[in-house]
Amino acid sequence: MTHDMKILMCPPHHYDVDYVINPWMEGNIHRSSRDHAESQWNQLYSVLKKHATIELVEPQKGWPDMVFAANAGLVLGDRVVLSRFLHPERQGEEPYFHKWFEDNGFTVYTLPKSLPFEGAGDALIDRAGGWLWAGYGFRSELDSHPYLADWLDVEVLSLRLVDSRFYHLDTCFCPLTDGYVMYYPPAFDAYSNRLIEMRVPAEKRIVVSEIDAINFACNTVNVDHVVVMNQASDELKAILSDRGFTVEETPLTEFLKAGGAAKCLTLKTIEPRQTEPKASSILSRVIRLEGHLLDSGIVNRALDVITTGGGSFQVLSFDLGMQRQDISVAEVKVTAPDISVMDDIMGQLIDLGAVSLPRESTPAQLDAVVQDGVAPDDFYVTTIYPSEVLVGDHWYRVQGQRMDGAIAVTHESGQLVARCKLLRDLKVGEEVVVGSKGIHTLRKAPSIKKGTDDFSFMGAGVSSERRVELVVEQIAWDLRRIRDRGGKVVVTAGPVVIHTGGSEHLRKLIQGGYVHALLGGNAIAVHDIEQSMMGTSLGMDMKRGVSVQGGHRHHLKAINTIRRYGSIANAVEKGVLTSGVMYECVKNNVPFSLAGSIRDDGPLPDTKMNLIEAQADYARLIEGADLILMLSTMLHSIGVGNMTPAGVKMVCVDINPAVVTKLSDRGSVESTGVVTDVGLFLSLLVQQLCKLTGEYALVK
Ligand code: ARG
Repeated sequence: MTHDMKILMCPPHHYDVDYVINPWMEGNIHRSSRDHAESQWNQLYSVLKKHATIELVEPQKGWPDMVFAANAGLVLGDRVVLSRFLHPERQGEEPYFHKWFEDNGFTVYTLPKSLPFEGAGDALIDRAGGWLWAGYGFRSELDSHPYLADWLDVEVLSLRLVDSRFYHLDTCFCPLTDGYVMYYPPAFDAYSNRLIEMRVPAEKRIVVSEIDAINFACNTVNVDHVVVMNQASDELKAILSDRGFTVEETPLTEFLKAGGAAKCLTLKTIEPRQTEPKASSILSRVIRLEGHLLDSGIVNRALDVITTGGGSFQVLSFDLGMQRQDISVAEVKVTAPDISVMDDIMGQLIDLGAVSLPRESTPAQLDAVVQDGVAPDDFYVTTIYPSEVLVGDHWYRVQGQRMDGAIAVTHESGQLVARCKLLRDLKVGEEVVVGSKGIHTLRKAPSIKKGTDDFSFMGAGVSSERRVELVVEQIAWDLRRIRDRGGKVVVTAGPVVIHTGGSEHLRKLIQGGYVHALLGGNAIAVHDIEQSMMGTSLGMDMKRGVSVQGGHRHHLKAINTIRRYGSIANAVEKGVLTSGVMYECVKNNVPFSLAGSIRDDGPLPDTKMNLIEAQADYARLIEGADLILMLSTMLHSIGVGNMTPAGVKMVCVDINPAVVTKLSDRGSVESTGVVTDVGLFLSLLVQQLCKLTGEYALVK
């Protein structure tokens, strides 16, 4: 009898559990019976023979898992992507499967050597939509998915596996005829579950219990309306028959000992290619990635944003730069199940940098503000990157770019102006951009050339091992150049700078003309003044490193003294404050801004307890900055990061890697993190500047 379906199997003549590469194999080494396995396999073979034409690949001695033909590769039409096994225990199977595919007329694609992908064990064609559900997390690498998309010309939906018992997608997920999907949700992360739910309507989702899952019910061979599996509970059988499926159970317990069952033992070699998905709300957009895509890890991050955001991608082209300094360009088609998912993904891609969305011809959508300080739903949230909006048939550059604002389009003296505004500044009657149409973000590719103006060689990454000296050299060089050309350096600093003995160095930087504005909170000024007046910082004697009796009161006395004089500047003028960071600011005309917080003692008369005013003050001082040095203050550094547009270099120094990471997460390619003690960092920086300039002021 001839069938429409063809299935490849590999007889179990050399099958055994010889090693452990998944949790099922643990404790089962040489515990399976060859005879028993042969008879179970034969039974599966005869059940399937009723529904499909079975082809065989010759088993090979020494490769016991070759029986699991699903892992040979992934077939679509006349193409096959050959598996690249993660474990050496199975890598020897590759040439035999390769040969079989070639002998049978397939065009075989092979992945780069170190990119694991385990074939149809981790990639399943959706029976209705025609897209590919592809698993990753244990055996296959997410990076293999773009290759699948490209070579097989198929939309890929990546699903992350999180339970090691379900290490292959086909152990916990099974697309069925008519668009049903039988699966075990806890085997997937939250995003993947969301993706499944968005793609497969509730009535088409068949959720199995843990018991069914560990009996490998999802590891089913489905041909038309027949489902062949190891075992199913009565409930599951009832559900399946309700949906029009005939369940055929055939025991495969010997193979469960190696972590496989019916589906693992088979590979469909007829997988007809389907046309575009029919569901109508699904939409696609093409984005361009440009820059040092591999070096900077942007590709990975972009693809991750797309898949975790609920979309999928297809790589249309990928031109790798030939030389290290060349940039690479990739075109990626992003597909999302609906507009809101798409908007969300696009927003995140823009944040990432190096992603340029081709200018569209659809104008931006505007919606009116109907309540002061409140934007319309769906308003476009701005990023740090320079942007343009299309209003009518004109592109307008957005003024006052910063992140986390809205774009208000207003008329200012007869001219149309697009301006970044904070929510609280929106006024009734203004129009605000909603959605993500008609917006174009401009960005330059981050350079990796050393010795240029860019902070390149340090990259956007963060590493505590990175040699601090190397970073310091680069920063010293930049500080000097910025000062000499009349540029602007802003420092945000926390009290740790004082506690760690960084004060004398920061003072020197101010004296040397390297600091053009200082931003902080009440605390840095308080402890600086305490140190200057009493020699302690938070009650610790800074020379001897011990706490002083009653020292905890010192800072309050310092505050009280300054309060008596009305301001820090006045205390300096009256000769009450005679040294320290704040003293140097006053003496050298370096403007400073102190933003208050709930925990502030005092506060100092200079501290702005009105946070909206403090934010505005910070923003004013940041304007025109070339470089921002963030010294051990998470609060103020993040605040500053949020109001700074792209293009401003930021160096964040903190002993806590989490702070540093948090700042570079803002997606700016210009930010560099240095995980180290801030006092040490400042002393190295001053030493390096001395070397570079021989300046006496610094040596003093
Ligand atoms: N012992 C094999 C392994 O761990 C089992 C493979 C099961 N195959 C599958 N498609 N899930 O690789």
